Amino acid sequence: MKKGRYPVLEIRNMRKYYSAGIGWIFGREIIKAVDDVSLTIAQGETVGLVGESGCGKSTFGRTVLLLERPTSGQVWFDGTKLTGLSHRQLRLLRKHMQIVFQDSMSSFDTRFTIAEIIGEPLLNYEKLSKEAFKERIKKVLDAVELDETFMGRYPGQLSGGQRQRVGIARALILNPRLIILDEPMSSLDVSVQAQILNLLKKLKLRYGLAYLFISHDLRAVEFLSDRIAVMYMGRVVEILPKRSINMPIHPYSRLLLSSVPVKHPCLRTNKPIYETQKSEKENTWISIPWQGAGCAFRFRCPYVIKKCSEERPELLHINGEHQVACFNLSSQRRIIDGTN
Ligand SMILES: Nc1ncnc2c1ncn2[C@@H]1O[C@H](COP(=O)(O)OP(=O)(O)OP(=O)(O)O)[C@@H](O)[C@H]1O
Ligand SMILES: [Mg+2]
Repeated sequence: MKKGRYPVLEIRNMRKYYSAGIGWIFGREIIKAVDDVSLTIAQGETVGLVGESGCGKSTFGRTVLLLERPTSGQVWFDGTKLTGLSHRQLRLLRKHMQIVFQDSMSSFDTRFTIAEIIGEPLLNYEKLSKEAFKERIKKVLDAVELDETFMGRYPGQLSGGQRQRVGIARALILNPRLIILDEPMSSLDVSVQAQILNLLKKLKLRYGLAYLFISHDLRAVEFLSDRIAVMYMGRVVEILPKRSINMPIHPYSRLLLSSVPVKHPCLRTNKPIYETQKSEKENTWISIPWQGAGCAFRFRCPYVIKKCSEERPELLHINGEHQVACFNLSSQRRIIDGTN
């Protein structure tokens, strides 16, 4: 987060563990979907969250909004500690934090009109006359570039892109400060994805919104985000400012971000891309030895040193906003500089 920017959301040491429920023969195993993650998002800032499937991105998003209770850790919103608030107190603050899902259709009741779907949060939080209610819906439809004729339509009568705009309108209707976008474009085709991405950028600038943008699309993440957090097996292993997206340092980030196209030849680095396979143990997700101690990536990492299996690396600032959790930083630097 840039100095002087006001933090709208602070997540401290968040953990979300699930029971894998193996049964009485093998005993109960624990999945550490989110494992000690701390992250701050400033007012108006977009933090992109990337990582392979199953690494805990959606769980993190849901837990941040306390749609699921964290196993431990704290969430602070605008200076108020949310974890520990009563249901009623939380409900009042939740209007400032909204979420847009990948498949908005599944979160809509298809028997309701678009006006009813978008307006439902308004009915829960504000007492408005029929006219004022209609005005608010019109205004938010306009913000997502849909005209008022959509008010009386049903979700089944909309295209995927229009439905996603409705999902965004519903998230916007209470004038939130923060929106969690969980793969908001992945069910859409490429041209529509670009339109939604542009819309999200416009809305962010117009309303000063903060986003946590979860996506597999690295180009989209680069386009929308101010900083990018790389997640691996429930842990954030690197946080990069946007300008450094082509200069990741953690071996996992290098593997993941190597597919981001470089715009300018000067930005091309000498970083080698290596092949790595998940170990069998890793693939099971359960009984993973790293869950006790050590770096989560050590089974796939070609630069592993003894310390990696003994201790867990913490995120350290290496250059301004750039943070990396790796014990073998010196070798990573040498590889990137091409002096190895
Ligand atoms: N309710 C649950 N009960 C048990 N395990 C769960 C639950 N929800 C998620 N998990 C497990 O937590 C891990 C993280 O899941 P999550 O959905 O957060 O991953 P993700 O990074 O969002 O993946 P994707 O990119 O595919 O959406 C997975 O191993 C998943 O099986
Ligand atoms: Mg997900």
